Amino acid sequence: MDKLYTLLLITLIFPSTLISSHNVPAIFIFGDSIFDAGNNHFNKNCSAQADFPPYGSAFFHRPTGRFTNGRTVADFISQFMGIDLQKPYLEAQIAVVNGSKKDYPSNGINFASAGSGVLQGTNQDMGVIPIQEQLRQFQTLANQNRIDKKVIQKSLFFLESGSNDIYNYFLPFTPPTLVPDTYVEAMLKEVTNFTDQIYKLGGRRIALFSLGPVGCVPARALVPSAPITNNRCFGKMNVMVKKYNKGLENLVNDIPSRYPGAVGVYGAVYDIVQRFRAIPSRYGFSDVSNACCGDGPLRGELQCGKEGYKICENPNGFLFWDYFHPTEHTNKIISKALWGGNKSQIRPINLKNLANITVTLV
Ligand SMILES: *[C@@H]1O[C@H](CO)[C@@H](O)[C@H](O)[C@H]1NC(C)=O
Ligand SMILES: *[C@@H]1O[C@H](CO)[C@@H](O)[C@H](O)[C@H]1NC(C)=O
Ligand SMILES: *[C@@H]1O[C@H](CO)[C@@H](O)[C@H](O)[C@H]1NC(C)=O
Ligand SMILES: *[C@@H]1O[C@H](CO)[C@@H](O)[C@H](O)[C@H]1NC(C)=O
Ligand SMILES: *[C@@H]1O[C@H](CO)[C@@H](O)[C@H](O)[C@H]1NC(C)=O
Repeated sequence: MDKLYTLLLITLIFPSTLISSHNVPAIFIFGDSIFDAGNNHFNKNCSAQADFPPYGSAFFHRPTGRFTNGRTVADFISQFMGIDLQKPYLEAQIAVVNGSKKDYPSNGINFASAGSGVLQGTNQDMGVIPIQEQLRQFQTLANQNRIDKKVIQKSLFFLESGSNDIYNYFLPFTPPTLVPDTYVEAMLKEVTNFTDQIYKLGGRRIALFSLGPVGCVPARALVPSAPITNNRCFGKMNVMVKKYNKGLENLVNDIPSRYPGAVGVYGAVYDIVQRFRAIPSRYGFSDVSNACCGDGPLRGELQCGKEGYKICENPNGFLFWDYFHPTEHTNKIISKALWGGNKSQIRPINLKNLANITVTLV
């Protein structure tokens, strides 16, 4: 990364480092492995796990159940806000049920479950928790007044989900019955219902994050119809992803009229990541195609940490940590773009402003 650019990034994105936002006390997080902070680990029935070494090695120095070598985007945003990282819901629940804690945490809760999708059926056989169930978990706490209504109104709500639905669409053992456009419409219907419920429960600051270029993940090596040579991405998959992302952005654009008093933002993660892939060296990457950790073509055939895996020496130089997931370095620079970035990265306002503006409670 050249010096001028680094300086620009620092001054544009970090005018002051950790600003403690008294306005926003908490984040409630929903979605898949991009955000999962250990829910699957506490769900013994679930086979989608990352609770073994070398996951977590770059920051926590132990596996936490996060599907990366360090912090997730939600973790970084919490740090930028000056609040503690959110605990997985299932961990918080165990503590309350067994009496070691009286209350649920006041800095928010992470409901995300790796492998899950916006469609209820996605990876159900793996025991993952779909967004509908994540919502019910939140709803139950809200209805029991386990979470303060005023806290809900001030908090940020994050959703990132849909990659698994689209990835699975191309797997040979589940021949899709819907054409791509209809499948994407079904996905967006679920997201709309999700945001309707969040609003009804009092959520007023809603951030919907686009999917990244799922067709470029090393795990495309597991999809028979996908290309794996010459850094080519799986075009058909990315076409669906872009369609979904467009629908998501339309939903965000509708928020002011659909949900009076609420503010929505659309995080353009797809475009942020495509920029990293286009000019890797500027962002500190030496490899934006292969996974750092795994095995097989693109190191995308075997999950990191499973018997026979190989690992790179410099994870920070890699876009991908394992077959599906970004490295902590990638998460960090995505987070900076979402927190302090301009309209090409997040719109109509960035997360820093979303956390700062006054929401009129109606
Ligand atoms: C786990 O699976 C068992 C047996 O299928 C079932 O009884 C139990 O309710 C499941 N637990 C969770 C948390 O899903
Ligand atoms: C209660 O749960 C917490 C984890 O949240 C754990 O650390 C603690 O050991 C548990 N206590 C008992 C008595 O089971
Ligand atoms: C919307 O979500 C709620 C809560 O998860 C669910 O009870 C309801 O059936 C959903 N409605 C539709 C139309 O999918
Ligand atoms: C927004 O940020 C991107 C990435 O840093 C940059 O390339 C672009 O020129 C910026 N756009 C504007 C309008 O400032
Ligand atoms: C937003 O930030 C500005 C300066 O960065 C500050 O003056 C203002 O008080 C903040 N507003 C709220 C509502 O926190």
